[in-house]
Amino acid sequence: MSDNQQDAAEFHAQAAAKTILDIRGVKMHFPITKGFLNRQVGTVKAVDDVSFSLYEGETLGLVGESGCGKTTLGRCVLRVYKPTTGSIIYQSADGSTTDLAALTERELKPFRREIRMIFQDPQSSLNPRHTILEIVGEPLMVNKIASGKELEDRVSALLQRVGLRPEYLRRYPHAFSGGERQRIGIARALALDPRLVVADEAVSALDVSVQAQTLNLLQDLQKDFSLTYLFVAHNLSVVQHVCTRVAVMYVGRLMELTDTQELYFNPKHPYTEALMSAVPKPDPRVRHRSERIRLEGEVADPANPPAGCHFHPRCKYAQERCRAEVPAIRDVGGGHLCACHFAESLKLKGVVV
Ligand SMILES: Nc1ncnc2c1ncn2[C@@H]1O[C@H](COP(=O)(O)OP(=O)(O)O)[C@@H](O)[C@H]1O
Ligand code: SF4
Ligand SMILES: [Mg+2]
Repeated sequence: MSDNQQDAAEFHAQAAAKTILDIRGVKMHFPITKGFLNRQVGTVKAVDDVSFSLYEGETLGLVGESGCGKTTLGRCVLRVYKPTTGSIIYQSADGSTTDLAALTERELKPFRREIRMIFQDPQSSLNPRHTILEIVGEPLMVNKIASGKELEDRVSALLQRVGLRPEYLRRYPHAFSGGERQRIGIARALALDPRLVVADEAVSALDVSVQAQTLNLLQDLQKDFSLTYLFVAHNLSVVQHVCTRVAVMYVGRLMELTDTQELYFNPKHPYTEALMSAVPKPDPRVRHRSERIRLEGEVADPANPPAGCHFHPRCKYAQERCRAEVPAIRDVGGGHLCACHFAESLKLKGVVV
């Protein structure tokens, strides 16, 4: 049994997996404006009525091709964006619940400490003029949690925890490799002892060998700090390795959501099947050649999506009904959620082993 299978099994064994985040009917629509008067001429439905829950301690993967709304949804959770509609119910450690989508900037402040972000590109997200002490220590200073010697000690401990030497405190980001910079970004994200971490393509910019080390670190930290991860990625091999469950998005909508192994070996949505067919084979000669998803046709434009099932122009199983009727997301067996009219009858291929 693989690690994540075991994790998933442990998960279900703890019958009452606690919900840390409950995303309900979230839409994030951006207006398209034109001309001097900023007249609105359209709407980009980047996230369009997405609902799912995140359980405490899990790693939920969020996958889909570029442009499907993954980053936008992550930013709604982080409240970089205030969703157009819908709610994002966060459950605090004491069990109380709060709708993050409804809060003002001021009310959000305590929650911003508990929900942190790891960026994709450690190169551009670390200020080149700040030392590692300033970068990792900033959240502690801003929140008046530590200063002076105590700050140095705490930052040193954080650096050690992510596998960097505490002597590096006064160095600048340029002195570090890409993998080390990502560790600095991770140390910064952990400085305030968060409960939920949104990692958006956190390892995508790294070399394959560095990716593996970084993923191992993230998994170790998850256990030590009892973290829940929302793990946004387009690389399905990485997701298969680290996630307990996976949500598949297409043009702003949730297409499928289930346990990782179930998704990879028993997909129920034709879009998932198409993504799987493009998973690079575990042959080292071809592994790093292309991690891009190869799928016929283009992702639909979220400003002008096709009617019915958004995937129908690219779906080889599409029928008349798919062009007219939006498939509802529903449980197609054992908690496996899928939004395809024919999920129950199609026989789809998972990853080829
Ligand atoms: N601030 C914005 N204003 C307008 N459109 C946006 C904005 N952010 C993202 N989009 C659009 O929303 C869609 C989803 O983008 P994004 O969430 O970045 O997708 P992903 O992370 O899956 O690649 C894209 O079509 C993108 O162009
Ligand atoms: S609803 Fe129709 S178009 Fe959409 S994925 Fe299913 S079969 Fe394909
Ligand atoms: Mg993105």
